[in-house]
Amino acid sequence: MFSGPAAMYDRFVGRYSPSLGRAMCEKAHVRPGQQALDVGCGSGALVEALAAVVEPENVVGVDPSEPFVEAARARVPKARIQVGSAESLPFADDDFDATLSQLVINFLADPDRGLHEMSRVTRPGGVVAGCVWDYGGEMTMLRTFWDAAAALDRERAAPMMEAHTMRFSRPDELEALWRSSGLEHVDVSAVVVEASYDDFDDLWAPFPTGVGPAGAYAASLDDNARDRLRDEFARRLGQPGGSFTLSARAWCAVGRVAEA
Ligand SMILES: C[S@@+](CC[C@H](N)C(=O)[O-])C[C@H]1O[C@@H](n2cnc3c(N)ncnc32)[C@H](O)[C@@H]1O
Repeated sequence: MFSGPAAMYDRFVGRYSPSLGRAMCEKAHVRPGQQALDVGCGSGALVEALAAVVEPENVVGVDPSEPFVEAARARVPKARIQVGSAESLPFADDDFDATLSQLVINFLADPDRGLHEMSRVTRPGGVVAGCVWDYGGEMTMLRTFWDAAAALDRERAAPMMEAHTMRFSRPDELEALWRSSGLEHVDVSAVVVEASYDDFDDLWAPFPTGVGPAGAYAASLDDNARDRLRDEFARRLGQPGGSFTLSARAWCAVGRVAEA
């Protein structure tokens, strides 16, 4: 799902990532001079936002996808970006003041292990923060896509809707994960961001390339079914004739590693 060109991801969900990254830095109270880690850094939007606060040399990013690691390195050359996975972070205990993860926890094979690792590499009193889209609510692009897909192909698309398949897309579930890992002062709140599109084609173009779960579904259809889905998606967005914006809400969890 995330092994294709980073440029296509940046036109897809990555379009929301820079403003989401800036909001995450604020939520996590990231301050100049801190050492910061971005887990599942993708093409580097949050790395870039962190670098603007703490300086690029103080930012480390990890992601299992080689094309994404290359893209993040190109985006912030002075940050240290490497291949790695959340469940087995290649860092010593207490290495970071702030460990953030944007739109990743719900993709982990072992989220408990991932959050345990994020806490382990963060110093006592440091911050661990993560966010997940409100897939069943105000993540307008993905929610509308899946509503259109389920209207045309209920049997196959309905069970694949991310509102059903993605864990931690409700604030109570995300909070429970943060608390169960021993993090303290846990707070979960909403972040709402927007993305702009030149026209509907600008929105649609990444879907048939197979990026993310929605793209994988679109790519699996034959040409006729894909054209019908495109039309239904556009209809549900009000047939935008020119430029438009969509809002997207994520739930953001912030906690502190217990002091010894
Ligand atoms: C939706 S993208 C988010 C990328 C980026 N954080 C952003 O906000 O644009 C999900 C990311 O999680 C990464 N990922 C998947 N499994 C992972 C794992 N086990 N550990 C760390 N990252 C993982 C993917 O490679 C991808 O970059």
